[in-house]
Amino acid sequence: MRHMMSPLDFSVDELESMMDLAVQIENDPEKYAHVCDGKKIATLFYEPSTRTRLSFETAMLNLGGSVIGFSSASSSSATKGESVADTIRVVGTFADIAAIRHPKEGAPLVASQVSPIPVINAGDGGHQHPTQTLTDLFTIRSLRGKIHDLTIGLCGDLKFGRTVHSLITALIRYPNIRFVLISPEELRLPSYIREDVLDRNHIAYKEVTRLEDAIPELDILYMTRVQKERFFNEEDYVRMKDFYILDKEKMDLAKEDMYVLHPLPRVNEIAVEVDSDPRAAYFRQVRYGMYIREALIMTLLEVSVC
Ligand code: NCD
Repeated sequence: MRHMMSPLDFSVDELESMMDLAVQIENDPEKYAHVCDGKKIATLFYEPSTRTRLSFETAMLNLGGSVIGFSSASSSSATKGESVADTIRVVGTFADIAAIRHPKEGAPLVASQVSPIPVINAGDGGHQHPTQTLTDLFTIRSLRGKIHDLTIGLCGDLKFGRTVHSLITALIRYPNIRFVLISPEELRLPSYIREDVLDRNHIAYKEVTRLEDAIPELDILYMTRVQKERFFNEEDYVRMKDFYILDKEKMDLAKEDMYVLHPLPRVNEIAVEVDSDPRAAYFRQVRYGMYIREALIMTLLEVSVC
């Protein structure tokens, strides 16, 4: 039985097959509408979410399955002191697969170690968010036709942004990817990613503070929100929150074929005026996320069309 804790749990070839399957689902959803008939996904969300939880639930419904779960820790037995390990043992009796989001780094991993059913990490603290990464990889492949020979700008809260940490870890396995890390000094990429992932693997990257300086050379601009909930004090958050605002003026400096991605939710970091730019791909990205989650569920449950 396989789980998905990190994008590295699957080889580049396996991810490629998963993306191929997502394309087939996108092109012919009817064909896949009953592959998970009778199966259930449990979404165990101890932290807020709109997209990720609804995306998993819609993905399962699209495949003919059904959904159980909770959307906040306060409505679960966590408030009574139940451990994640016990919860997954219980939920494994009811469901065939589970997606877990938790504020504590490593909580989904602990669950997977005792789980009778496949577990998907739907975001653990500031650590990893592998299904957002699948979404991001699939979006890049769908829009650019490739995941190699690209200059990728990551902008915003690179310190606490788990989507950034997961994406970098996944992208270094593809040929000739260059990173431009755009952040204020206080929100730089943590050293466990900069040194242990980028430096150790001799990946080309540079760190800059100004978005205007970086934007002309980018093929993809990955914007992120300042992660309010991971700050220790409100003052620091307020000082950082509007550090970057991507607007029309900055978009004018970008390549004609540079796409803007964002895991969402957006706060102020992308002006609404950018939404109508054909290069703004963040709402399309949500759709890709649903198809790739369908492909992931099928893969972990080992189901296929007859
Ligand atoms: C991201 C997350 O939860 O890490 N959102 C998401 O899953 N689409 C990004 C964020 O919250 O900023």
